[in-house]
Amino acid sequence: GAGWPGLIEAYPDRVEVPEGARTVTLQEGNTPLVEARHLSELTGCRVYLKVEGANPTGSFKDRGMTVAITHAVAAGIQAVICASTGNTSASAAAYAARAGLASAVLVPQGKIAMGKLAQSVVHGAKILQVQGNFDDCLELARKTSAEYPVTLVNSVNPVRIEGQKTAAFEVCDVLGRAPDVHCLPVGNAGNITAYWKGYAEYAADGVITDTPRMFGFQASGAAPIVRGEPVASPETVATAIRIGSPASWQAALAAKEASGGLFESVTDERILEAYRLLASREGVFVEPASASSIAGLLATAADGRLPTGSTVVCTVTGHGLKDPDTALAGMVEVEPLPVDPGAVATALELT
Ligand code: F0G
Repeated sequence: GAGWPGLIEAYPDRVEVPEGARTVTLQEGNTPLVEARHLSELTGCRVYLKVEGANPTGSFKDRGMTVAITHAVAAGIQAVICASTGNTSASAAAYAARAGLASAVLVPQGKIAMGKLAQSVVHGAKILQVQGNFDDCLELARKTSAEYPVTLVNSVNPVRIEGQKTAAFEVCDVLGRAPDVHCLPVGNAGNITAYWKGYAEYAADGVITDTPRMFGFQASGAAPIVRGEPVASPETVATAIRIGSPASWQAALAAKEASGGLFESVTDERILEAYRLLASREGVFVEPASASSIAGLLATAADGRLPTGSTVVCTVTGHGLKDPDTALAGMVEVEPLPVDPGAVATALELT
């Protein structure tokens, strides 16, 4: 390919792949860091959005998947499996297709957004809908990969974290420093773990002098880390983070502790408000789970936990087109117009 080579080749001394491995890439990474003027005004901070929906399959999962599938190919694996709330499965399906591997995805029946399901279908994954939630799917995927010749590509596979940590490098490379605070949505807790690993590596090597405080936000109906215990039946409009027992729970808590950060929950109502605000005021269309980082930003700014004047990066993790149903739920139906300029002018109240 031409131009940006994808993150394995962009960070060759920071992301390890097996000697001589053929890189499987869709030129993921190098996503925009967009200044959020309206959010900056609202919070009195300098707010940036790390727009991960700009990755090839529309979410941050591609960062981990290029590394996981590159390892799988190097190991001579024929098939990969994952559990997913939709984005990991879309990414696994795409990268497996590119590498010529078979893929199987375990998803909670009726609880993944339509665009994500479409991606797994079109990339040719074997889709298994499970009568259970994500946590049930992950347990099934783990057991299957332990007993049969199929490789697990969930973030419990440590090479996924190695890929995802590059987003922290990109933030620092663009800002010339680390932000004061980094806000993230939290589901299975792999991504916040990965960002912290990236910041910590840059700090250890002297690339940055300070590390950010990590702020993690869960949906209030699926907030095991905030509550300090697993949630048996997680529920939220943000289906991507509808998870009751995160795999990287301890690592995420360690990131919070080491960084002086926090975990907080945000209601579905606040998530949807933030979702609409981002789309209507910043021009950035994200899926509901991604908006939880913005809902959290606004909540912590409002109650004083986010110091005024901070430089803040909010990762918005997935593209809004993933979940057209949520977007269209707010659509107002209007009568179709006759082919007549006067009718258009009347409808737009221009007369
Ligand atoms: N945002 C989106 C859009 C996601 O898809 C996910 C996780 C998260 C945030 C949370 O990241 O799990 O690392 O804490 N999606 C996984 C999946 C669970 O199957 O696609 P996390």
